Amino acid sequence: MTEAIRVHEVGGPEQLKHESVRVPEPGPGEVRLRHTHIGVNYIDIYFRTGLYPAGNLPFTPGLEGAGEVVATGEGVRTLKPGQRVAYAGGPLGAYAAERIMPADRVVPLPEGIRNEQAAGMMLKGMTAHMLLERVHPVQPGEQVLIHAAAGGVGLMLCQWAKHLGATVIGTVGSPEKAELAKAHGCDHPVLYRDEDVVNRVKELTGGEGVAVAYDSVGADTLLASLACLARRGMLVSFGQSSGKPPAIEVGQLAAGGSLFLTRPSLFDYIATPEALQSAAEALFAVVSRGALDVRIGQSLPLADAAAAHRALASRQSTGSTILTV
Ligand SMILES: NC(=O)c1ccc[n+]([C@@H]2O[C@H](COP(=O)([O-])OP(=O)(O)OC[C@H]3O[C@@H](n4cnc5c(N)ncnc54)[C@H](OP(=O)(O)O)[C@@H]3O)[C@@H](O)[C@H]2O)c1
Repeated sequence: MTEAIRVHEVGGPEQLKHESVRVPEPGPGEVRLRHTHIGVNYIDIYFRTGLYPAGNLPFTPGLEGAGEVVATGEGVRTLKPGQRVAYAGGPLGAYAAERIMPADRVVPLPEGIRNEQAAGMMLKGMTAHMLLERVHPVQPGEQVLIHAAAGGVGLMLCQWAKHLGATVIGTVGSPEKAELAKAHGCDHPVLYRDEDVVNRVKELTGGEGVAVAYDSVGADTLLASLACLARRGMLVSFGQSSGKPPAIEVGQLAAGGSLFLTRPSLFDYIATPEALQSAAEALFAVVSRGALDVRIGQSLPLADAAAAHRALASRQSTGSTILTV
């Protein structure tokens, strides 16, 4: 038996029940992992509330973890017991001390990357890689807008965009978050509670607007993000922390200056084992080079998953949140 968090009924954080479950032996192509650290992501809240369907109830949430291989199933040649590994992506089930994973969705960890860092960065860091290097490859000298700049994905985006030579404008909800974003590569933190974001972005860019806006907040920010774009700019809607993003008419893209709009999901960008490996290697490289610091803002025991969700959903958290086993 192993300890795990299970959701029997979708709803609030109180639905995250700490229980004892049986973990089977790994089948063909699978490995059994023992976590040391588990990553907490906003998407876990979407599954807990039922916004994203998890399938059968009860289910164990979580899409990110780090630890070691304890057993391998038939045909697994790339991993062996005792090996340190990490992953980001399905199937759900990371909020557990031990679990089964398909071997080809798990990545060996290089010596320089600690388990704690890996759990704090695999999903958020590969998302940053997707956004900055694949969805809109950021060019040196470009001006970019990043919402929730002091959040988990946000702090990584700020640092990585800066490393690529961009000028980073980031929105934040408090002066403390502004300081934190600034210390992680955000050139111009904008306090959206005090300042009009569109006016401030226009002012900072000499009236031109930004080449790309990375918007994970959705309902409260998407239309402002659109208005912040330069001619032929790109709006990347990749989350909805504040609720469902509003609909955008095709004509609005023309009126804004031949704009682009995309809604990427990491899981489409790491769908094959090769794409996963390549994204993980790109992430390990920026971290090893010292260009990306994985800031763990909150670390709680697995049993306190509900507290981790409360902090994330109520804007109390900064950087990455992890659970320890
Ligand atoms: N598409 C993909 O593949 C993909 C992959 C990973 C993550 N994501 C998305 O990226 C976003 C960030 O994820 P994360 O785990 O790093 O979370 P996070 O950004 O650390 O936490 C959410 C932050 O969003 C801001 N926010 C603004 N309005 C909010 C509201 N009404 N309720 C809650 N938060 C609000 C808050 O920052 P302020 O206080 O500064 O406003 C808050 O701290 C999520 O929307 C997630 O779904 C998407």
